[in-house]
Amino acid sequence: MKKRIRLGVNIDHVATVRNARRTFEPDPVHAAVIADLAGADQITLHVREDRRHVNERDLKLIKEVIHSRVNLEMAATEEMINLAIEVKPHQVTLVPEKREEITTEGGLDVAGQKEKIKEAVERLKKAGIVVNLFIDPDEEQIRAAKEVGADAIELHTGRYAEAFNDKKEKETEEELERLRRAARLGKEIGLKVYAGHGLTYKNVKPVAEIPEIEELNIGHSIVANAVLKGLKEAVQEMIKIINS
Ligand code: PXP
Repeated sequence: MKKRIRLGVNIDHVATVRNARRTFEPDPVHAAVIADLAGADQITLHVREDRRHVNERDLKLIKEVIHSRVNLEMAATEEMINLAIEVKPHQVTLVPEKREEITTEGGLDVAGQKEKIKEAVERLKKAGIVVNLFIDPDEEQIRAAKEVGADAIELHTGRYAEAFNDKKEKETEEELERLRRAARLGKEIGLKVYAGHGLTYKNVKPVAEIPEIEELNIGHSIVANAVLKGLKEAVQEMIKIINS
């Protein structure tokens, strides 16, 4: 039987649009509810140090109203660990965070900061939270993730997605092979294996076909598609109101 892959829908971009006007719409909580009702297995959100998109209020309300899983992406800082322990999402995904980056650029360097990550993992697991580490598909990082006690790894698919989007066929295949090898190793040593970043309607399939992958987290492409698909109805509704 074909395996079912969990889809985590990242709703950060909805909050980005809201924050562009410093107003209340579109509310990422509403987006989370719609994604939940549409069958998403998980709502994923990244509370950043600078709160550039979602914030504590969004996280707390989403945790309250979502009946599927909530996956909080965050940096391994004291402030964020305390927030996660207070709100208790189903899962925390530890990601690297640089203030100036547009989005999460590389995987978390677990091997280079084992003690710090181990302590964060322990505190989060003690609070009953599943801990996932967002890492590059790299053997050293995968083994380090196991060493620090993570439950799961999320393989960074950004390089694969970029090669695919640039139509670099050889590089795409090489990156895909790296992901396949990493997924095999992760599962072999007892980690749950997920993937995400830069996945689109066009490039997702080969990643979804990697047998060890049980969860994908996707944001940008879904929100981009939603804007275009919903625009026609939104324009028609406004025309109706101004002419009624
Ligand atoms: N997974 C992680 C760990 C991420 O940081 C992000 C981006 O916030 C995603 C998945 C989703 O990436 P995208 O928005 O490109 O689909």
